[in-house]
Amino acid sequence: MNINAETKTIGELALETPNAIAIMERWQIDYCCRGQQSVAEACRNAGVTPMELLTAIGEPRIEQSGDWQNKTLVELQDYIVSVHHSYTRQAIETISLLAEKVANRHGGNHAEVLDVHRVFGELVGELMPHMMKEEQILFPYVEELETTGERPESCFGTIANPIRVMLMEHETAGEKLVQLRASTNGYELPPDACLSFRALYERLADLEQDLHRHIHLENNLLFPRALRLEAYR
Ligand SMILES: [Fe+2]
Ligand SMILES: [Fe+2]
Repeated sequence: MNINAETKTIGELALETPNAIAIMERWQIDYCCRGQQSVAEACRNAGVTPMELLTAIGEPRIEQSGDWQNKTLVELQDYIVSVHHSYTRQAIETISLLAEKVANRHGGNHAEVLDVHRVFGELVGELMPHMMKEEQILFPYVEELETTGERPESCFGTIANPIRVMLMEHETAGEKLVQLRASTNGYELPPDACLSFRALYERLADLEQDLHRHIHLENNLLFPRALRLEAYR
């Protein structure tokens, strides 16, 4: 596989070779919030070389389910809402209960779970209104844009404005995920961790992975395509 690591972005690589995402997750290469950085820069930040990454990815296999470049924006948005938004809401419900329980029970011996409880609360405070804005304002606008072929009336002028806000909110959510990972030392369980403690860290790690994929689809695929579509209307 030959690419120019200086000009290709890490977000493009993740889009073109969806099987690379599992490796990027494992090596903590940021392909979602900072999907615009070059492959070289993303690798440098993660402490690996582009050659190591490309060797690990091997020849790109295009997964049918992940082949979003040929789907409509409406299909992509429906997928984001039915898969990622609904998973996020369920995960928030479960993790909120677990975080509170574990903080009450183990906060005395493990100060990190108090941090987890606080930072997770902040993350929820960001994500809930964020998903609602996407579902009620941004996605319906894109749907109208795509299906009618005309620029819909809007209260926000051009779509670049709400997209800018969504990108900033993704950035903030990404920072909260980094904070959670740092205060738990990469979700490392202490030897005395009970079942709830274990479940909390496992659910948080799952949510982190899902949010990375979710933000990747919006930042690197949906938003750029919606901007281009509006420009032609
Ligand atoms: Fe979303
Ligand atoms: Fe989003």
